[in-house]
Amino acid sequence: MFVAALTALSKWLAATSLSSTILTTGWIIPTLQTVHILCVAVLFSSAVLVDLRMLGVLQRDVPLSDVARRFLPAIWPILLVLLVTGGLLIVGEPRRSLVNGTFYLKMALLAVAIVLTSALQWSLASTPGFWDRDTGRRVAGGIAAVASILVWSGILFAGRWIAYTQAG
Ligand code: HEM
Repeated sequence: MFVAALTALSKWLAATSLSSTILTTGWIIPTLQTVHILCVAVLFSSAVLVDLRMLGVLQRDVPLSDVARRFLPAIWPILLVLLVTGGLLIVGEPRRSLVNGTFYLKMALLAVAIVLTSALQWSLASTPGFWDRDTGRRVAGGIAAVASILVWSGILFAGRWIAYTQAG
């Protein structure tokens, strides 16, 4: 029932003039993919740099709150560009993503990453030393940083995997 609705939505989207323009104008899909990938590179680097600082691997001479203030705010506008470029890629070839469990795995992981990153940004904005207060906080911060790296990596993996799991 759900799959039937998604298949119908894909068919409707594929019949729109925007979809056929995206699909038949040779440069549009490679351009959208290029912008998507450039944004992925900046977003992933920003998030993981902060995670590695939390783990004490990088930039130990700079307070965590300074590293977070430098890199985390960039994530939100970049996510917006990813949403637009990803959305247009879906309009161009709706079936590839909308009738594909891997795409929903990617979106579920993205929701987790957004919650983790917002919580980290909010905790450090309200209390700069939040994750350094005691050993328990440091361990919890390390676990959150590892979880964040794994979740962002999972999104990258799922993004690539969509191409290999599309419905026939
Ligand atoms: C914000 C919402 C997002 C949407 C709607 C979206 C949508 C898409 C779509 C439709 C594709 C093309 C898949 C295909 O047809 O093969 C794609 C590719 C990809 N996405 Fe996203 N995406 C989003 C965010 C992200 C994020 C946050 C990341 C990683 C941090 C990411 C990483 C990737 C990767 C690595 C690819 C593969 C690119 C390629 O092989 O050319 N995406 N995305």
